[in-house]
Amino acid sequence: MADTKSAKLVLNDQSYDLPILTPTIGPEVLDIRKLYGQADVFTYDPGFTSTASCDSTITFIDGDKGELWYRGYPIEQLAAKSHYLEVCYLLLYGELPDADQLKDFESRVTHHTMVHEQMNNFFRGFRRDAHPMATMVGVVGAMSAFYHDSTDIADPWQREVAAIRLIAKLPTIAAMAYKYSIGQPFVYPQNELDYASNFLHMCFSVPAAKYTVDPALARAMDRIFTLHADHEQNASTSTVRLAGSSGANPFACIAAGIACLWGPAHGGANQAALEMLKEIGTVDRIPEYIARAKDKNDPFKLMGFGHRVYKNFDPRAKVMKESADEVLDLLGIHNNPTLQVAKELEKIALEDEYFIEKKLYPNVDFYSGIILSAMGFPTSMFTPIFALSRTVGWIAQWKEMIGDPQNKIGRPRQLYVGSNKRDYVDVAKR
Ligand code: CMC
Repeated sequence: MADTKSAKLVLNDQSYDLPILTPTIGPEVLDIRKLYGQADVFTYDPGFTSTASCDSTITFIDGDKGELWYRGYPIEQLAAKSHYLEVCYLLLYGELPDADQLKDFESRVTHHTMVHEQMNNFFRGFRRDAHPMATMVGVVGAMSAFYHDSTDIADPWQREVAAIRLIAKLPTIAAMAYKYSIGQPFVYPQNELDYASNFLHMCFSVPAAKYTVDPALARAMDRIFTLHADHEQNASTSTVRLAGSSGANPFACIAAGIACLWGPAHGGANQAALEMLKEIGTVDRIPEYIARAKDKNDPFKLMGFGHRVYKNFDPRAKVMKESADEVLDLLGIHNNPTLQVAKELEKIALEDEYFIEKKLYPNVDFYSGIILSAMGFPTSMFTPIFALSRTVGWIAQWKEMIGDPQNKIGRPRQLYVGSNKRDYVDVAKR
């Protein structure tokens, strides 16, 4: 990050030098940290469309080319050749592990998958019909009440234990939220199963029958986890960083991230996309929905389309699409009406002038719901699965921030447009 170049800002006949920071790759960044002190002005950027909130070594996105790298490795290579726990190691520690490091990491995660037994009772306080995301926000937030011994953020060992606990326990908590919502008994994790198989087992097995995880489905599940593992400074990650910047403990920060992810413009889009496909129902109704998406007076958007950063095909969506074809083939699902609507909608939207001009491509959420639904998950579980996959990204970003000596509490400023100072008027005189 060199800052030998600078830009000049002329304001009220005064000139200010703004250092230019040069990233490894990507657009240069104007450093405005001293601007308020020197020139008494703020910059204005609602939605942070032009603002870099931190420097980071974890993930890189080139939205125009449709590229995504974790620690420099392209997502397509990781999805094809690696697996989720190896990707977790890469995101957390910066390098791919050697065989011993991987074995040790897998063993540490595997041996933290059970949750405190008292948590079962905590779950029972929720209504059965609660959305699993509602339950997860509460239960993950409550982890700080169950695991006090890893909440001291100043202690690197405690930070490490908290990271492992979160990665290990989130699938267990997501599966418990699901089991609770359908009135089935909780299923304990099994140490001999890999991460993805374990999750499928905790979701789909019941005490009354033997459940064997299909390795091909476990592989597809693992790939979904990998594709969602991190995505630089998106809304939920920025939420985790902002919450963490005040010194809040990691469990509280991840609960904040889960709450943010839930929104339909972010992680909630996978549920919304499948529900939209079902609502469209048949191919002949697609034009009606395309017309609504284009209508400025209709708030409707095509869920699973568009992205703040990608102005080209979302690279995760490409892998997800291949995976969807594989899973549907494997399960012998060929004439599914939702799938037909999805394929036709994608085709029409990619040829439509409105979508071409606005660079609106299918995103990761467009296809993930199709796979998850084929695997047997209800739509309400789509966003919890996104949350458990993204936990490693959140925690890697949180650890990076806590370890950064430049870390300050996040505190944006505002453009105040409210009333000027005025005197209080007694109620009788108003
Ligand atoms: N359908 C129809 N029009 C759209 C869509 C869409 N899905 N997305 C954006 N537009 C239009 C939007 O109306 C705007 O038009 P105009 O310039 O005429 O005002 C233009 O395209 C630019 O959109 P924007 O809303 O200003 O872009 P943004 O960067 O603020 O929003 C987004 C990005 C992802 C929130 C938005 O595209 C969206 O709401 N998409 C649907 C929800 C979705 O699929 N979200 C998942 C994102 S990927 C996974 C994740 O990050 O969690």
